[in-house]
This record gives sequence, C-alpha cells and structure tokens, in this order.
Amino acid sequence: MTVSLHHCPAPAKLNLFLHVIGRRPDGYHLLQSVFQLIDRCDMLHFDLRADGRIVRTTDVPGVPEEQDLIVRALRLLADEFQRRHGRAVPGIDVAVDKILPMGGGLGGGSSDAATALMAANQLWQAGLSADELMALGLPLGADIPFFIFGQTAFVEGVGEAMQPVAGPDCWYVVIEPGVSVPTPAIFGAVDLTRDTKPVTISDFSRDQSAQNELGGFGKNDLQAVAVRLFPPVAQAVEWLGSYGQARMTGSGACVFCAVSSESKADEVVAQVPAAWKAWKAKALARHPLKSLLQNRAVV
Ligand code: C5P
Repeated sequence: MTVSLHHCPAPAKLNLFLHVIGRRPDGYHLLQSVFQLIDRCDMLHFDLRADGRIVRTTDVPGVPEEQDLIVRALRLLADEFQRRHGRAVPGIDVAVDKILPMGGGLGGGSSDAATALMAANQLWQAGLSADELMALGLPLGADIPFFIFGQTAFVEGVGEAMQPVAGPDCWYVVIEPGVSVPTPAIFGAVDLTRDTKPVTISDFSRDQSAQNELGGFGKNDLQAVAVRLFPPVAQAVEWLGSYGQARMTGSGACVFCAVSSESKADEVVAQVPAAWKAWKAKALARHPLKSLLQNRAVV
C-alpha cells in the first residue's frame, strides 16, 4: 500500500459489535461499539494549489462536490487555519478513487474526510492536534473522530469517546448486498432497541482473550431494523451465517464474518452468489497515515 501525504489510503471500518444504550435530548443515540479498521480502502490524492481553493477533481456519482464530506471538512480546516494564522490556506486539489460503497456501514465517507483532515493539516502546516481535528470533524460525521484516532477502539458517546483496545488479528469476509442504507432511517425507526445494558471495555477484552473473536462479542442493535427494511441485508446475513457468526456493520448494508485464515476467506468469497459483491479483508492495527506520521508531535 503506497502511503505518502500526497497519496493516502482511507481505510474502512467494521463495527465488531454496536449497542444502542440510550438517546440524547438532541436525538443522537448513545452507543457502545468496537471499531476495527480493515485493509479495504478508498485512495485519496492531494496536490497543493496556490489560489486558496479547495477543489475535488474527480466526479463521485451521487455526491455533488458541495456535499462531499471531504470538501466540507477541508473548508472547516481552512476556516480554522485563517483564524489561527491570520491568512488563507494555499488551497488543495483532492482526487478520490472510490472503492468503498456508500450506505454500506463501512464508514467510507467519514474515513475520506478524516484522512483528508489529517493530510491537509500536514500539507498546510495548520498545526492542529489530533483532538482538535476530531472536534472539527465530529459535527460532520459521528465516525470521523474514530478514523482520526486511527486504531482499534472501544467507542462510546455518539462516537467521540474512544479508548484503544486490542482487536482480533483475523481475516474477514465482507458482503455488499447491493443496497444503500440511509443511516437516519435506521436510527429513527420506532422498533430500534435503545436500551441495551451497558458493557465495559474489559467485558470485550475478556471475551477476546478467551479466543472467542470468531464468535463475536455482543450484537449489532441496528441490524434488526435494517434486515426488516432491506431484505437483501437479511439474505446476506442468512447466507454468510453458514460460515460463522455473520453480522452487519454500522447501520448496514454490509455484512461480515470473521474467518480463521486468508485461504478460508478466499474459499468463502469464491462461493458468494454472483448477485452480491464480496471481498476478503484483514484487520488493520493502525490507520496507514497515522503510521507514517507516528513520530511527529501532531497528526
Ligand atoms: O453523524 P452521522 O453521519 O454518522 O449520522 C447520520 C445520522 O444518524 C444522524 O443524523 C442521526 O440521525 C443518526 N445518528 C444517531 N446517533 C449516532 C450517530 C448517528 O442518531 N450516534
């Protein structure tokens, strides 16, 4: 995987479990989840400009430039730069090789935005800390802070409270059931379970150390709603379930299953019905850009 400040992978995540334990007065849900990065990535390419503009140079079907989380995040960073340094940013061109599906529960849009924030923070020498970048990104997407955190995490709150946790070092099979799931429709459903009993980080860690990672700790509370509203998600869970514990990630639509080896992943992917896209992925310990920057004081 080529990684530089000009060519950055933006990795996907899987929610190994996702519990909804309450709801804030503003309607956002209080979650508990373990987020695991995987080595399936969008690729972002950056070039500095001299005219202060932020320009997306590739077309992303279904996402106009003005609505793109990358562009919106970079504009927030440019505003913050102006406040701190009293001058405008040089500007930036961003090209996107879009691999991760939209409405897939893999966090692709948030990962792109988080990766762009980290890269531009360096390229512009904006000087924000990781915590400051996370606070900047949170209003745009609840998953953005996690991707800036950049390693397996036990995540709480609406997505802003993170603790590092050892994730399983395993392979996954992921199915894209061919539907795009709108996150607000899942969180807004009347039948969503919102009162799952809170767990602790050590409950998850104990389960992992018992070598139980292929079985899967906890559940995904969003799954029952998504399988009701989107039958292809239900079909993918049922199909993959014959190879292990199949679970939806995020608010769907993608469904995954942990497997013991790369060859087992290849074997399962080869069996997946042609109507669905499927691929193998390996758990990733750190965001590739964080690894590149790990010796620097700021991300
Ligand atoms: O912030 P993000 O784009 O991930 O969220 C999309 C929508 O999902 C929000 O507008 C909200 O309706 C819902 N959501 C929620 N609680 C969360 C995260 C998202 O209710 N913790």
